[in-house]
Amino acid sequence: MKKTGIDWKNLGYGYTQTDVSYISYWKEGGWDEGVLTPETTVTISIGSTALHYGQECFEGLKAQRAKDGGILLFRPDQNAKRLNNSARGILIPEVPEEMFINACLQVVKANQRWVPPYRTGASLYLRPFLFGHGDNLGAKPADEYMFCIYCSPVGPYFKGGLKPIHLCVSNDDRAAPRGTGALKIGGNYAGGLRIRSEAKKAGFDDCLFLDAQTRTYIDELGGANFFGITANRRLVTPQSPSILPSITRRSVMEIADTYLDIPSEERPVPITEIDEFVEAGACGTASIIAPIGSIFYEGTRHTFYGNGQDVGPVTQQLYDTLTAIQCGDHDAPEGWMVEV
Ligand SMILES: Cc1ncc(COP(=O)(O)O)c(C=O)c1O
Repeated sequence: MKKTGIDWKNLGYGYTQTDVSYISYWKEGGWDEGVLTPETTVTISIGSTALHYGQECFEGLKAQRAKDGGILLFRPDQNAKRLNNSARGILIPEVPEEMFINACLQVVKANQRWVPPYRTGASLYLRPFLFGHGDNLGAKPADEYMFCIYCSPVGPYFKGGLKPIHLCVSNDDRAAPRGTGALKIGGNYAGGLRIRSEAKKAGFDDCLFLDAQTRTYIDELGGANFFGITANRRLVTPQSPSILPSITRRSVMEIADTYLDIPSEERPVPITEIDEFVEAGACGTASIIAPIGSIFYEGTRHTFYGNGQDVGPVTQQLYDTLTAIQCGDHDAPEGWMVEV
């Protein structure tokens, strides 16, 4: 197999061109068989609804190298279900779950040399996406759709390994009440670009969004869900209709309950309660688990474990167990890991 020349241990979180992507077309009521292609561009009509009205939804999942050299996908069925939930929300035809998983497997198999070695902290990120295209003018659903998957090897999302990140509470909102916050659609992220870029310019790693209706409860970060750990070792995570239902978060809650004897609860979390957490973290496919060192809110810096400088023991335990599961070193609940 031709070498990639990548320095895996120092790989950042960005785009690297791989060998092939997957494309399937939907027209007149059905998806075609789909093909793998070396093309890295798509040509679509200038009237495409994806370009004008954001009729686009996407997913993100990772393939990891196991100790024996095999390759594992983490819960792709959950990404298929969430993609279809997003698709229903913006009137895009659904992709059958089997077709989704099969396409992911094809992409990983054909790009095997881009799957980083075991335990380098890097992985192969898959980006499945669905969008409306074709000649169109008005704000209505497209007549034609594409389902594509491309992939890229990635290093850690937040630089510096398992090191606390620092957040500010945003004065702007990510998602409207009863809006589209729970869908993984392009428009939600376009709306967050300026807000997150301002937080970064101000020296923070990301911002934390509050619920838009009352601005009193924690919603989530721009690209990850939030969790806090109480002094009596309980994992608390926000319940909100406008956050993206994170697959990592659901997995972390199950890991905490099943393997670590840490009870988890999902409930509204008032921002005024943050000082009750001894540890806090962000979780998502890209960030895995990132300890939160501090949250800046209304002029005060609220710090967590080790005065915001250290990784707390529960966060470390969650991280260690999740990453061990993802590369096949730890038992996983039935059906989580899919061998490529
Ligand atoms: C807004 C937002 N919240 C949460 C997450 C985490 O979700 P998951 O764990 O399924 O990657 C993501 C990433 O996909 C996200 O974009």
